[in-house]
Formats: sequence, C-alpha cells, structure tokens
Amino acid sequence: MTNGRLRLGVNIDHVATVRNARGGALPDPIRAAHLAVKAGAEGITAHLREDRRHIRDVDIERLAAELTVPLNFEMAATAEMIALALRLKPHAACLVPEKREERTTEGGLDVVGQERALAPAIAQLNAAGSRVSLFIEPDAAPIRMAAKLGAPVVELHTGTWCHAVVDGRQDKADAEFRRLAEGAALAASLGLEVHAGHGLDYDTARQLAAVPEFVEFNIGHFLVGEALFIGLEQAIVQMRAAMDEGRAAK
Ligand code: PXP
Repeated sequence: MTNGRLRLGVNIDHVATVRNARGGALPDPIRAAHLAVKAGAEGITAHLREDRRHIRDVDIERLAAELTVPLNFEMAATAEMIALALRLKPHAACLVPEKREERTTEGGLDVVGQERALAPAIAQLNAAGSRVSLFIEPDAAPIRMAAKLGAPVVELHTGTWCHAVVDGRQDKADAEFRRLAEGAALAASLGLEVHAGHGLDYDTARQLAAVPEFVEFNIGHFLVGEALFIGLEQAIVQMRAAMDEGRAAK
C-alpha cells in the first residue's frame, strides 16, 4: 500500500485521432503532450496500434526523444512492437490486448491464457529497463499471474465500472467498484505497483482515488473531449484537483 500522491498520466491518442481525420499534421499530439506536462501531467501515455489509427511511428519517436516526464508506451505484445520498445526504451511498456475491429481497448489482457507468449516479452522488456505494466481485469487470476510472470506493474481496467456509473446502474457500479478495490489490495499485497485506466472522468477518478493502493491513473478520452470546451490545461488542472480531493477523503 502507498500513502503517496496519486500520479496522473495523460493519454494523447485522441489528439492524434482528430489530426488523422484530416490526414495532415494538426493538431499535433506532441504539442498536446508538452502542454499536458505544463498543466501537471506526471506522465504521457500513447498507444501505437497495429493499424496506426491514431498515434504514428513518428509520434512515438518524438515522444521518446522529447519528453521530460516518463513515457508509458502502450502496445500489443507483438514482435514489431517489442522490437520498437527495445530500441526506444520507454520508461514503461504497457501491454494491452488489441483487436482490429474494436473501437478502443475493450478488456484486459488474457494473461492466464497467454502466459507462455507473454513470459519472454516481459523478460525482454524488463531486461531493457522498461517497466512492464500489464493491463488486466481486476480479478485474482490475472493479478496472480502478472506477479508470477515478473511484471512490476498492473493497470486495472476500469471501463466496466465507469460504464456502469455513467449508465446509472448502481448495483453493478457498486459491485465493480468492490472488484477494483479488492483487486488493487491483492495486487499491492503481491508487491505489484497498481495503476488504473479506461473511461475515467472527474467523478469516477475522484471516487477511485480513495482506494489507497492506486498510484497512477491513465486518462485520455475524457480529457481530450473536455479540452474542446475548457482547454486541455484547465481540464488537466480540474482532473488533478478531483484526484487530490478523492485521495484526501480516503
Ligand atoms: N489505459 C489503457 C491501458 C488504455 O488502453 C486506455 C485507452 O487507450 C487508457 C488507459 C485511457 O482510457 P481513456 O481514453 O478511456 O481515458
């Protein structure tokens, strides 16, 4: 368990989504990353997907070269992405499942089913100095497997909980919140650093910040949407305040 400050990592994928809608260079996701850092982001996350639908190779190269805060490189555990991570040596490599037909990452990585394929990838990335983070469901089996495979970090998938909150399904939301809190406690008891992400907004980030085992939230889509109305810096400042409120109230 940690009593420290909860870190905010900002995911800039959807700045690239808007850029790619017109195929040019604007808006520049790297400019958004620098602005996010100025506004208080303690890390930047970017997901280079196989189909390059948002982040492009040149974006990852620029982030690795220019960032003054940790880069969390979100990637599928494919030979292509592992080779890139081994060359760029990002601070963290967050392994996620990837399906071409999905609109966004739909669930956690099947670490139990893919144990034999993931083990060498995790070992290589760890050896290269990148902190491996496994994006998983908040359940005991994948959490225990992450610890067994030697990943130092797990990121618990918050999407199911966030959907239930937004849809007003209170019983489901309560059950999902308990699943996250129990998952975070189990992961921390196994010596894992615990992150969370997917679908978080001001309200859900505030609530989840009360669970003391979480040390980092990675948030993208909501912040980029909110930036349309109040600007990216202000959205990050308000997110930071919501997280600090939630942590203080625990
Ligand atoms: N963490 C992981 C592993 C993700 O795949 C995503 C979505 O790309 C996020 C965090 C951020 O989710 P959102 O964009 O919904 O805030």
